[in-house]
Amino acid sequence: MTVKVVVGTQYGDEGKGRIVDFLAKDADMAVRFQGGDNAGHTVINDFGQFALHMIPSGIFNPQTVNVIGTGCVVNPLALKAEMEMLEASGIDIGNLYISNRAQMLMPYHLELDRLEEAQRDTGQKIGTTQRGIGPAYEDKTSRSGLRMGDLLHSVWLEERLENLAPRISQRLTSLGGVAPDLGECFAVCEEARGFLADRIVDTVPLMRAALAQNQTILVEGQLGIMRDLDYGVYPFVTSSHPSAPYAAVGAGVPLQAITHIIGITKAYATSVGSGPFPTELDDETGATLRNVGGEYGATTGRPRRCGWLDVVTLRYAAFLNGVTEFAMTKLDVLDEFKTIKVCVGYRCPDGRVERDSMPDTPLMEQIEPIYVELPGWRESTVQCRTWSDLPPTAQEFVHFVEQQTQVDITYIGVGPARDQLVVR
Ligand code: GDP
Ligand code: IMO
Ligand code: MG
Repeated sequence: MTVKVVVGTQYGDEGKGRIVDFLAKDADMAVRFQGGDNAGHTVINDFGQFALHMIPSGIFNPQTVNVIGTGCVVNPLALKAEMEMLEASGIDIGNLYISNRAQMLMPYHLELDRLEEAQRDTGQKIGTTQRGIGPAYEDKTSRSGLRMGDLLHSVWLEERLENLAPRISQRLTSLGGVAPDLGECFAVCEEARGFLADRIVDTVPLMRAALAQNQTILVEGQLGIMRDLDYGVYPFVTSSHPSAPYAAVGAGVPLQAITHIIGITKAYATSVGSGPFPTELDDETGATLRNVGGEYGATTGRPRRCGWLDVVTLRYAAFLNGVTEFAMTKLDVLDEFKTIKVCVGYRCPDGRVERDSMPDTPLMEQIEPIYVELPGWRESTVQCRTWSDLPPTAQEFVHFVEQQTQVDITYIGVGPARDQLVVR
């Protein structure tokens, strides 16, 4: 039995999609465990280049069953667009399923996300992806959500939606919006039922059977630990848990079935959205990282904030996720740097040095990163495929991060394509 959980160990966009796509060649199943179409997972393989939002990155492997798990929020129309996009590229999506327990995101969640963000003062804005994710999870926890399985029970769904309407109206109008168009909601549900009904499943028997048959299961996270609802830079976080402990809940596998927890990190750091980001470089070096790394959001197109690698974050992520190994992507982006910095500690305003935990968010804004400067290798790594192909100075950089985090780095990305990976 092999259950590999793939999670982001920074602020999202670490390259989870490309690693899941690579690992899926040996997987019977790939399950997304949380988030919604706020995700943008880029995959570049023989079929082309894709930005996946909801659909697991195992979809390009015909033998892999792909499941949008219980922990997710699903915008059915966005999912439809994504399914059509893949089909137009000749990808077989016959193996795609959706948990009947996943939450269904409605048009009013998008409107609530927009209105709530507009109402926040400058400095308090979260910089959400405006995909309705926060309001949809809010409805889930207040037990006012609709689930994907409700599509299969039209009378129940209609009754629930009518019952929820006053609550939704109240929230929308209190924010200066208008009452929800129930007709539009019913139309969305009708359309969704038409193209999704056959794909909505109870994932519990599915996962149970997969485990009983000793199958290999990949569990794909969205975003990263620093935007986790509990352990991220609250309130500048997402409304779910991108950390590995939630993978069990969101995918519906027992905790002890998990055999590998692969933490994905870039060789530097990026963040989209607001909030503290200690190693941010608001200078020419940051701009170089953005240009060379192509650091623009896969979902929103927003320029990503860029900075040096922060091993305080990685130690924090390694502990909370129980990371068994790291995959480091985008090593090639550092190819031309003369020197490379790595943040190994935070100097707090009271002089204390934090090395493996995160100060409270207000303090995070005030900490001063402590850097170690390492030499660059100044040669291209994009053709490297084995550890020994890498320049010795690049190997030293990887060793440094391993030594700092006490976690092995087993995959090293040297380009965005499926095969541009050093597997150790
Ligand atoms: P995800 O959300 O974690 O799946 O990551 P994104 O797809 O949002 O962002 C990662 C970006 O880096 C994408 O544009 C990938 O194509 C690209 N990428 C991933 N790994 C590598 C790598 O090793 N080298 C380079 N140059 N680009 C990479
Ligand atoms: P992947 O899976 C990077 C960020 C937003 C914002 C915060 C909350 O591609 O790594 P939300 O819309 O979730 O309410 O926004 O989280 N964010 C992401 N940043 N990559 C993502 O996904 C993100 N999904 C959300 O920018 O700061
Ligand atoms: Mg992304």
